[in-house]
Amino acid sequence: MEITMIGHGYVGLVTASIFADAGNKVNVIGRTPEKIQKLKSGDPLIFEPGLEEILDRNLKNGNLNFTLSYDSIKDSKIVFIGVGTPSQKDGSADLSQVRVVAKKIAENLGDNFTVISCKSTVPVGTNVEVDKIVKENASTGAKYAVASCPEFLREGTGVTDTLYPDRVIIGSESQKAIEVLLELHKPIGGERVITDLASAELIKYASNSILATKISFSNLIAEMSEVAGADAGIVLEAVGLDNRVSDKFLNVGIGYGGACFPKDVKALAFIGKSMKLDTGILDNVEKVNFRARHRFAKRVIDNAKGKKLAIWGLSFKPNTDDIREAPSIDIMNDLLKAGYELSVYDPQAMGHIEGIFGDKLTYADDKMQALDGAETLVVLTEWNEFEAADLEAVKKSLVNPIIIDGRNVYDPKQMKKLGFKYYSVGRRDVK
Ligand SMILES: NC(=O)c1ccc[n+]([C@@H]2O[C@H](COP(=O)([O-])OP(=O)(O)OC[C@H]3O[C@@H](n4cnc5c(N)ncnc54)[C@H](O)[C@@H]3O)[C@@H](O)[C@H]2O)c1
Repeated sequence: MEITMIGHGYVGLVTASIFADAGNKVNVIGRTPEKIQKLKSGDPLIFEPGLEEILDRNLKNGNLNFTLSYDSIKDSKIVFIGVGTPSQKDGSADLSQVRVVAKKIAENLGDNFTVISCKSTVPVGTNVEVDKIVKENASTGAKYAVASCPEFLREGTGVTDTLYPDRVIIGSESQKAIEVLLELHKPIGGERVITDLASAELIKYASNSILATKISFSNLIAEMSEVAGADAGIVLEAVGLDNRVSDKFLNVGIGYGGACFPKDVKALAFIGKSMKLDTGILDNVEKVNFRARHRFAKRVIDNAKGKKLAIWGLSFKPNTDDIREAPSIDIMNDLLKAGYELSVYDPQAMGHIEGIFGDKLTYADDKMQALDGAETLVVLTEWNEFEAADLEAVKKSLVNPIIIDGRNVYDPKQMKKLGFKYYSVGRRDVK
């Protein structure tokens, strides 16, 4: 079927490419001519494993079309909204991009029935507002229905997550819209959850917030383990053996970041507060998360030697170039304030970090170059290439072999054997 996706970020581009690969004709609307030009030439603009190949294949077979024009809407059975919904100062979601495109969709609807489906993460009530905007701006007699189809892909594994999701959520008051969306999702895996608009909107926030809660809970246990002389890794591994809990998202470290968890926890708390509910549980998830970053920066300041530190890892998690809300940003700001020189390396996120920090940092070409002249190595993202690093070579390169590890990448016993001073999170230090 012919569909349109508005937005070509991590969600828009990945899902559009997968739907095109399944044989649909997919139009992707953007708003920046240079970006549309690059996408047309096969440059995905973002780093997402496996995406470039799919993009290339579907540009060649004509299933993917990138455009600045909203013309394709009149021939599309489904129009997806995949624009950003960033946090505002008060924690609420900024819906301005959603409102702008809702009006554009209305103005470009054709004669056939169209499903307008929001993939962006939006607060309860947004799709009702989209419906109202469309009603006010569409020509009389336009046939359409609004549906919420929130996205659950994770950056770094976006392609496989989109093909094989745990679940596909479809919320709508229109049975016809539900049927069209079910048809599109036929080649996609996962349980189907068919529900109303408000439930679909809330499912997305609740899902991200419970995962963020597990991470902050784990980091609180890490704080306690450090005081008690316990090993948070062992504690949480044992907790995770209970299959009611599961062993996922019980990692300790410097907390969550990215374009979703931080803003979605804040937005859910904002929604709760606007309902006059006590959202203390969510407020504290956020508090513990930021404490984890600043506590770790202090740990570096208390234990590092030398003025120059090597930093491995800048993206908010491995296998992505995304640095939005990355813990590395707060931690490096604390370290710069304390007077350190930072020599940094990340496999994908260097350009984005340079855009923020400019000449305040030294940018290395590879992980070993980052160690030049540094006494201490600080690990902030658990990329495979850091886990697999030749630690003997690292030891030789560091003036003083100290590693301060924010992601518990290495085994303290092995570090002791190798002769490092090693500090990690929620575990005993190797001195
Ligand atoms: N990134 C993720 O892992 C992820 C996962 C699930 C859900 N989400 C949600 O999906 C939404 C999009 O997230 P993202 O990470 O893809 O954002 P993003 O910032 O990477 O992409 C947003 C896109 O919207 C486009 N856009 C904005 N206004 C436009 C307009 N008027 N016309 C055309 N295009 C316009 C931007 O150019 C950009 O391509 C958010 O609500 C987010 O919370 C994100």
